Amino acid sequence: MSADVRVAVFPVAGRGTRFLPATKASPKEMLPIVDKPLIQYAVEEAIAAGVTKLVFVTGASKRAIEDHFDVDPELENALIAGGKNELLESIKGIIPAGVSCIYIRQGEPLGLGHAVLCAKPAVGDVPFYVHLADDLIIGESGCLRQLADQYGKHGSSVVAVERVPHENTSSYGIVAVEESADGQRMTQIVEKPKPEDAPSNLAVVGRYLLAPEIFTKLESTGRGTGGEIQLTDAIADLLDDAAVYAFPFSGKRFDCGSKLGYLKATVECGLMHQDIGDDFRAYLRQSIDS
Ligand code: G1P
Repeated sequence: MSADVRVAVFPVAGRGTRFLPATKASPKEMLPIVDKPLIQYAVEEAIAAGVTKLVFVTGASKRAIEDHFDVDPELENALIAGGKNELLESIKGIIPAGVSCIYIRQGEPLGLGHAVLCAKPAVGDVPFYVHLADDLIIGESGCLRQLADQYGKHGSSVVAVERVPHENTSSYGIVAVEESADGQRMTQIVEKPKPEDAPSNLAVVGRYLLAPEIFTKLESTGRGTGGEIQLTDAIADLLDDAAVYAFPFSGKRFDCGSKLGYLKATVECGLMHQDIGDDFRAYLRQSIDS
C-alpha cells in the first residue's frame, strides 16, 4: 500500500548562477519548459502524488514564484472578457482547491540541508517529500508517487537514484547499497565524491521521501562539502539508527540545472506537446537534415 504523504518541500532559494544572465532578476525555477515553468512541473508532480501542503523555501529574488501560484483576478478578468477559456483554465487550475502554499524564507544560503531544516515548522512530525525542481523527471507515473509506494512497503525513508557515468560522481550525492529481496538498502551516502573516492556510481536525484527524524539529524549537521549544510550528511547520520532505501525510479530525468539538460528537456517536452509536437518534430527533422 502506498504511504499517505501530504507535504512536499521545494527548496528554491538557490541563485541559479549557471543560467546568468537569464536568472539575474528571475528565479531559475521560473525558467519555462515550453509553456510551464520548472516549478509548476514540480508542483504538479507533488499534487498528483496526493500532496495538499506545498512548502517553498525561498530566498532573494523569488517573488515571481509566489506570484505564479497566487490568483491573478486582473488577468482572469481579461481572459474572461476576451473569451479565452482555455487559457483561463490553464492559469486557474494550477493550485486546486484544498491545496495550500506556504513560503518560508531561508535567510542565508547555507545549503540544501539548511533549506530543508527551515521547512521544519511547516512540515511537523510527518514523513514529507523533498523535490528539487532542477531535476525534471518525465514518465508514466510521477517519481514522488513511486517513492510513496516504496515508503508504504518499507516504512522508511527512500531516495530516488540512478546510475551516472563514473566520472560525474562529483556532481551528486552517491550511495552504496545492499541488495536484498525487498529492495536496495542504503549502507553509505557521500556528497559529491571524486570518482576515485566514490562508493559507486549510483547517484541521488532530486526526489526524497524522508521520515521526520531527519530534522533532528539536520539540527546537528555541520558544514560539509562546499562549506554547506548538506542534506546528504544528515541522511548519512540517519543511517546509524534507521533504514533508508535507494530506489531506481522509472522515468527519464533531465538535469535542468545545466544548459544542455535544460535544452534536452525542452526538446523532449516540445515533441510531446499536444498543440505543437507534430510541427516541432517536422521542424527538427528538417533542421537536422539541412
Ligand atoms: C543536490 C544534492 C545532491 C543530489 C543533487 C541531485 O545537489 O546535494 O546530493 O545528488 O542535488 O540533483 P545540487 O545539484 O543542488 O548541487
